[in-house]
Amino acid sequence: MEFSVKQALGVTNWFQDMCGIIGMIAQEEVTPTMLEVLKKLEYRGYDSAGLATIQNSKIERRRAQGKIENLELLIKEKPLSGHIGIGHTRWATHGVPSESNAHPHQKGDVIGVHNGIIENFREIKAELESKGYQFTSETDTEVVVQLCASYLDLGYTIEKAFESTLSRLEGAFALCFMFQVNADKLLIARRGAPLVVGYGNSAVFVGSDAVSLSHLIDDVIFLEEDDWAIVESKSLNIFNKSGVITNREKKRIERNFGEIGKGNYQHFMLKEINEQSEVLSYATASFIDHKSSRVEMLHGFNEIKSISRLILIACGTAYYACAVAKYWFEKYAKIPVEIDVASEFRYRDSPFEDKDLVILVSQSGETADTLAALRKVKGKVKKIISIINVMESSIARESDFVLPIKAGPEIGVASTKAFTSQLAVLASVVIYFASIRQILSNKEISELIDALMSAPRLIADVLAKEEEFKNFALKLENATSALFLGRGSLYPLALEAALKLKEISYIHAEGYPSGELKHGPIALVDSNMPIVCFAPYNDLFEKAISNVEEVLARSGNVLLITDQEGGDRSPQNHLPKIIMPKCHSFIEPIIYALPSQLIAYHTAVIKGTDVDQPRNLAKSVTVE
Ligand code: AGP
Repeated sequence: MEFSVKQALGVTNWFQDMCGIIGMIAQEEVTPTMLEVLKKLEYRGYDSAGLATIQNSKIERRRAQGKIENLELLIKEKPLSGHIGIGHTRWATHGVPSESNAHPHQKGDVIGVHNGIIENFREIKAELESKGYQFTSETDTEVVVQLCASYLDLGYTIEKAFESTLSRLEGAFALCFMFQVNADKLLIARRGAPLVVGYGNSAVFVGSDAVSLSHLIDDVIFLEEDDWAIVESKSLNIFNKSGVITNREKKRIERNFGEIGKGNYQHFMLKEINEQSEVLSYATASFIDHKSSRVEMLHGFNEIKSISRLILIACGTAYYACAVAKYWFEKYAKIPVEIDVASEFRYRDSPFEDKDLVILVSQSGETADTLAALRKVKGKVKKIISIINVMESSIARESDFVLPIKAGPEIGVASTKAFTSQLAVLASVVIYFASIRQILSNKEISELIDALMSAPRLIADVLAKEEEFKNFALKLENATSALFLGRGSLYPLALEAALKLKEISYIHAEGYPSGELKHGPIALVDSNMPIVCFAPYNDLFEKAISNVEEVLARSGNVLLITDQEGGDRSPQNHLPKIIMPKCHSFIEPIIYALPSQLIAYHTAVIKGTDVDQPRNLAKSVTVE
C-alpha cells in the first residue's frame, strides 16, 4: 500500500475523537436519561452529539452538530423511543465537526459510539472498501462499526464479530455497540480510554466516567485495559485480554466535595474558584496532622533517602504546579529536580536511572501525553507517584503510589481549584521529604505546616477582594496582548496566569521571569500593553520592583500585585496595585494563584466568551 509522506513520517490526520459515551438498558424509556447524561458529559468539551435506540427491532438514530440543545430540538421533532440506547458527545481534534461525522455510527444491524483513536483505521478502511463496503463519514469510528458488520456478514455471532473486531484494532479506544438483531445487550470494550458500568434499580448504565452517572447510581465497575463485556439488564459478563471471563470489583462512586451544579454562580469556573478555601483543607487533611505537626504519606515507600533526582512531569496548568514545586523541593528538601511537559518528555531520549523518582501531576488522570510518559518510565525508575483528582483514572491505576488532591469534580475547562490543590499536595510532599531526609528541623517543618494550614483562610481573604480584580479586568478588555511577571516561585505562576487569560478570554498573553524583561520583551512595552507583576514583599521584592521601574519608565501599563509592605515600599504611589494578605513565602504561589484566576475570569466574562467551555478546548486531553 502506498503510504503518504505524512503517514510515513508518522504524521497522521485521521479524525480523532475525544468524547463522552453513554449506554443504557432500562425498563423505562432511555432517551430522557441519556440526554441528561450527555449534558453531564459536556464539560469534556464537544462539538456534536447523537443518540440511538432500538424500538421493535429497529435502530433509530438522531445526530446534531453543535450544542446538545440542537439534538434535543431534533428529538422533540422526531422522538426516539426504546428501552436500549447509546449516546455520544464528540470532540473532533481533526476535521470538521458535522452531523455526518457525529456518532453514533451505523452499518446495517450494528451501531456504535467510540472515544479515542484507531491508529490503523486507514488500512482497515481500504480493506473493507476493496470488499465493496462504502463509507458515509471520514471518522475512524465508522470503520470500526463497518468492520464489525463485515464479521456479521460472514455469519459470526454478535459476540464473535465484536471480539474479532477488537483483535484488529490498534490504538486507544472505549466502545459501546448495540445490535438490531439482539436488542437486549450492549457490547463494550476499553483500551486506553476509560469506560464504566453500573446498575441502578431499573436500568444498567455504561459511561465514559463515573461522575456523569453519579446522579443515577452509587457504584460502578471500571473496565480494565483490554477488557470487553456483554452488558444485559440482569447480567454482566466481562472478558479479559485473553478472552477469559473475569470479575472486576464494584467501587463506590466518590461523591467528591461539591455537587455538579453551578449553585448560585454564573459559571462553574467561578464556583470552583470560590471552593478553593474549603477544598484546600481537604487536599492537605489526608497527609498533615496539624496537632503533631507531622506529615504522613506514601506508606511502604522506604527509599526516599536514596532518591538522587526527582522528575516532575505534567501538561498545562499541572505542569506549572510542577514548576513551582521545583523551587520548593530544591529549597526545602535539597533534591535536584527536573521538570518537563509530558508531550516533550515522552519523546525525548533523556537518560534516567533507577534512583530517579517520577511524580506525575494530572487533574483528570487521563491526559494522553502524561499517561504515555508514565508508561515510558514504568519499571525503569525507582517509583512512580501520581498526584491526581480523579482517583479511578488510568494514570492513578498505573502508578505505584497515588496522592489524591480531593478537589472534587472540576467542570470548568480552565483548571483552578485543581491547580491550588495540586500545589497543596506537592507542598505536603516537599515537607514530608524534607522531614524524612532530615534536611529541616522539627521547628522548620512545623513552620511550613503552619504556613500551609493558613492557606484556606488567606484564600478567603483574597476572594473578598474580587471587585478589585474585576475592575482591573476592565483594563484588559481591549488588550491584544498582556504580560505577567514573577520571580522565584512566582515565575511559574506568571506562566499559569498567562495561560488562564489566553484559554478563556482568547487574549494573547505571556508569562516571563521579571529579570528577563530587559533581555528582549521590554521592547514590547508601551502604554497599551497591560503588565501584571506578582511581587510580594520577599527576598526578591527589590529586584522585582526595579523591573517594574524599567517598565514604568517606558509608560508601561502596570498592575502591581503585592502585599501591604510591598505596597508601602513601591516607588510610585499612583502605581495601580492590589494589596494581598501577608503570607509565608512558602505558600505565595498558592495565594497569588487567585488573582490570576479572577483576572482571567472577569476579563472573559466582559468579553462574553464561553468561560466554562472555551473554544477549541476540552477538559481532559485524552488524545495526543
Ligand atoms: C488548564 O487550565 C488547562 N485546562 C489544561 O492546561 C490542563 O491543565 C492540562 O490539559 C492538563 O490536564 P490534566 O491535569 O487533567 O492532566
